Amino acid sequence: MNIQKNIPLKEYNTFGINVNAKRFVSVTSVYQLQQLLKEEKDIFLISGGSNMLLTKDIDTLVVHIDIKGISIDRENHNDIYITANAGESWHEFVLWCVSQGYGGLENLSLIPGNVGTCPIQNIGAYGVEVKDTISKVEAIEIETGKLVSFSAEECQFGYRNSIFKNEAKGKYVLTSVSFQLTKNNHNLNTSYGAIESELSSKDITNPTIKDVSDAVIAIRQSKLPDPKKIGNSGSFFKNPVISKEHFEKLQTAFPNIPSYVISDTEIKVPAGWLIEQIGFKGKRFGDYGVHEKQALVLVNYGGATGKKIYELAQKIQHTIKKTFDIDLEIEVNIIQ
Ligand code: EPU
Repeated sequence: MNIQKNIPLKEYNTFGINVNAKRFVSVTSVYQLQQLLKEEKDIFLISGGSNMLLTKDIDTLVVHIDIKGISIDRENHNDIYITANAGESWHEFVLWCVSQGYGGLENLSLIPGNVGTCPIQNIGAYGVEVKDTISKVEAIEIETGKLVSFSAEECQFGYRNSIFKNEAKGKYVLTSVSFQLTKNNHNLNTSYGAIESELSSKDITNPTIKDVSDAVIAIRQSKLPDPKKIGNSGSFFKNPVISKEHFEKLQTAFPNIPSYVISDTEIKVPAGWLIEQIGFKGKRFGDYGVHEKQALVLVNYGGATGKKIYELAQKIQHTIKKTFDIDLEIEVNIIQ
């Protein structure tokens, strides 16, 4: 294996932050990874680099997970079980499934990143979360080099959350994800308002999974910055969940506040709306700022440092706390 020295990581993170890895290695198979782990346990993993904000050079060995491959495990009349290796591009995998007529992932089109990281924060968009289709996750335990398998239940999925962000954090390298998808009788989820209006603008009344995927791509392209053009990590914050009493209090001061009912006692409020209210939407501070079309997304216009973007995030958190008494939780991993 070729361990390289002083490698710039700009191309390896979607925020486009230019820090260096002191030592860097790409692994292309589970075997290579296991060999490497015999020598090196203090590692920093990078895959699609789509959910991290790098604020400094990385001193530990950076291991780029580049394990490719897609296989069909089994199928019956209605369902198909597919395993994709961690280094596959998420969006390319989704497009491949859609082109084969396999349903379940179409609402998750155009999400940046690789397959191997999709379970970690349980990626979600337009009414679907990846947990709805995951049947199994395989990983290598860093300490022992052993291959371990997690059922969907063992992954303990929640909203932008899983066991891999909690007690399993830092202990495993995810190597593949298995999905149960539909071949017929797809469970299309078009209830999200923007999907419905996108489909009806094209006079589509009986959509296919390809129609839904195309609609999601069009919506994302109209709202979210393309990381290849403007560095970003998607939603920087989670949408906060607050108590019903707290929400009702806010409603008297802000009658237009949008909300989603979570339970009898809890309400989710869109962080993008909150950030827009405090005047940060579209604000630019030289090389970085808040996206003009979606206030939940912080952006790097060029040479911004991760430190500056993190400072902006903290300023937003502070102002949200002061204005709404809400703790805004950061969704992106801050590497410092
Ligand atoms: N809104 C504003 N101003 C903004 C942005 C949003 O007022 O600048 C309002 C919208 O008008 C709408 C509500 O907030 O009433 C929700 O907005 P949107 O539908 O754009 O979704 P979101 O809650 O801001 C979440 C996910 C996105 C996902 C979309 C669509 C989180 C943290 N984010 O955003 O996920 O694409 O729903 O399902 O849950 C990501 O995680 O990286 C991501 C992009």
